[in-house]
Amino acid sequence: MEIIRTKQALYLCLEHCRKTSKTVGFVPTMGALHKGHLELVKRAKNENDCAVVSIFVNPTQFNNKNDLKSYPRNEKKDFELLEALSCDFVFVPEVAEMYPEEEVVEYDFKGIDKVMEGKYREGHFNGVAQIVSKLFNLIKPDKAYFGKKDFQQLAIINYLNKQYLPDLNIEIVPCEIVREADGLAMSSRNMLLSEAERASASLIYRTLKKYTENYAKYSVDKLKEKIIKDINEDAHLEVEYVEIADNDSLVAVQEIIPGKATVCVAVYAGKVRLIDNFAL
Ligand code: PAJ
Repeated sequence: MEIIRTKQALYLCLEHCRKTSKTVGFVPTMGALHKGHLELVKRAKNENDCAVVSIFVNPTQFNNKNDLKSYPRNEKKDFELLEALSCDFVFVPEVAEMYPEEEVVEYDFKGIDKVMEGKYREGHFNGVAQIVSKLFNLIKPDKAYFGKKDFQQLAIINYLNKQYLPDLNIEIVPCEIVREADGLAMSSRNMLLSEAERASASLIYRTLKKYTENYAKYSVDKLKEKIIKDINEDAHLEVEYVEIADNDSLVAVQEIIPGKATVCVAVYAGKVRLIDNFAL
């Protein structure tokens, strides 16, 4: 596995791949890798001639400075995990390499960036699109892999790819959510949880599972109310939002059409913000 720190070196490595007509699968990450990330890498490796993973904690997508500061970083272990999967290239640039000077970019996502995560994390998706766009332009992969764990991010990436970067011809591959044995969606932030918060956090999954299995019994408002109440009953957890969103427009629905809506939540476990979702 080659560890690459500059855009120039990345360009040269990938040029060799392209000259030999190798297909490239790309997995963008912010590191502190877990099994959720590794499933994406395995698919990228299986479905392409070579796999590129980027590890970059992107400052422009953090609306909260403390969240950026406390975001877990573990480069050495990440490299070991990627090496074990025979990943071909890992791109780990410094901030100055990706943002040599301050730049202002404004995407228009036609409102899908304004609800849910976008409402509570202002500017977040603009920052995500900014870095993913830079990485896509540098790497020009055939396929790029994203987790459904970040349901809204996936919608933003699909829009970005189709509307802003159509000439790159990248196929976006959505991947299933990988969960811990007790159902908690794997996340780099889980390692910031205290033992008690970690034990409580599985209630998010259990609650979503319970109500999504029986969603037809309730109105949309009642369903949201019940999910909030059940999760908030645990002293370590506090719901930020519960929304039932249309899969395409991401707009909150008033009526659930099976297969067309997803229930999305953001919950604080102490100071750690967790997100999860369940398709209905
Ligand atoms: P990060 O949170 O590191 O996630 C990288 C990728 O792994 C994303 O596509 C995310 O959806 C996926 N992922 C995370 N947890 C997962 C799980 N439990 N199951 C399946 N997939 C999971 O998302 C980002 O980084 C950044 O916003 C990024 C796209 C890299 C741009 O900076």
